[in-house]
Amino acid sequence: MTVTALTGISQLVTNDPVHEYAEASSGPLGVVLDAAVVMDGDRVRWTGSATRLPSGVDQVVDLGGRAVVPGFVDSHNHLAFAGDRSDEFAARMAGESYSAGGIRSTVAHTRAASDTDLARSVRRLAGEALRQGTTTIESKSGYGLSVDDERRSLEAVRTVTTESTFLGAHVVPAEFAGRADDYVALVMGEMLDACAPLSRWIDVFCDVGAFDVDQTRAILTAGMAAGLTPRLHAGQLAPGGGIQLAVELGAASADHVTYASDEDVEALAGSTTVATLLPGAEFSTRAVYPDARRLLAAGATVALAADCNPGSSYTTSLPFCIAVAVRDMRMTPAEALWSATAGGAAALRRTDVGRLAVGAAADLIVLDAPSYVHLAYRPGVPLVEAVWRGGERVSGRAF
Ligand code: NIG
Ligand code: FE
Repeated sequence: MTVTALTGISQLVTNDPVHEYAEASSGPLGVVLDAAVVMDGDRVRWTGSATRLPSGVDQVVDLGGRAVVPGFVDSHNHLAFAGDRSDEFAARMAGESYSAGGIRSTVAHTRAASDTDLARSVRRLAGEALRQGTTTIESKSGYGLSVDDERRSLEAVRTVTTESTFLGAHVVPAEFAGRADDYVALVMGEMLDACAPLSRWIDVFCDVGAFDVDQTRAILTAGMAAGLTPRLHAGQLAPGGGIQLAVELGAASADHVTYASDEDVEALAGSTTVATLLPGAEFSTRAVYPDARRLLAAGATVALAADCNPGSSYTTSLPFCIAVAVRDMRMTPAEALWSATAGGAAALRRTDVGRLAVGAAADLIVLDAPSYVHLAYRPGVPLVEAVWRGGERVSGRAF
């Protein structure tokens, strides 16, 4: 296995707060200045001050004074779909409001797409995300909404990631209009049987126009009995009991949480359920942002994710989400970066990604900037110079 050292790192974010070379003032980010990283195969072998670079390195790459951060861990996406909804977006920007019902127009396109087209679409979006630094990506199904189309969606997702989430309960499809309970029974029965072997997670859109708390509890409980771990969409469009339910069931994450009550925030803070914020959705639906400061002040673990989907947030860019979270949600650049890396890893219950510690995956981003702060300071600029995943450079220009 090749041992590669990256040197000439102006600022290395390790997300290891007790790193022996970390700046004391850098807190959870564990920032090492004038640093180097040694990768052995697909793992991190060593990180520290460049002056202490160990011997036994086969290859040295000098980054010329650039910042290095852990690869982004994007814990919430909907990549398995066909078609787009640019007309709906344009109408919204002209004053229409967003509703869950738009999902059904994507369902029609997704059902008409071949397996090859679905897999191609998932790979295109995962590749787009990777070029912007996302080295670990989660994706849901949820635009098939029949046993076969949900199964096909998950097969497509599995071509790019093992972080696959069964979201048969996204909305009630048109053919079940007025028969929501029959659809819930299908999701918990035959659809779950077909999809559980292809999934790590189970999710429900618990909100107005989608599923209520009782339906959500029934579906998630059935999923848990089938060996899946719950995560859910809660409080995106209106307040409700979804966030408390996430905590009650020990869900890995409650996502959106835009309409969180004080009790919801307290419940999240006292739990292992991560609060995943999706600023792309508020941006693209022109909605009010979640109160990140309240969640952070309470002590909740906060993740940031892209929520790439054709309706409410058609972006794969975590640099964009970081910039919005800093500018409009008042997260600090350090908090936003942590949430898009270590926070995402916590939301996926992973300890091998989201940090650059010895033994962790050699997944990292080289920024064409001297500091990670530039991710928010230089919005819209393609600062991702190179991406290394599993110890290999998978995208980027030569230095
Ligand atoms: O996370 N909230 C539910 N699902 C997506 C939106 C899906 C759509 O509009 O197509 C979301 O925002
Ligand atoms: Fe979503």
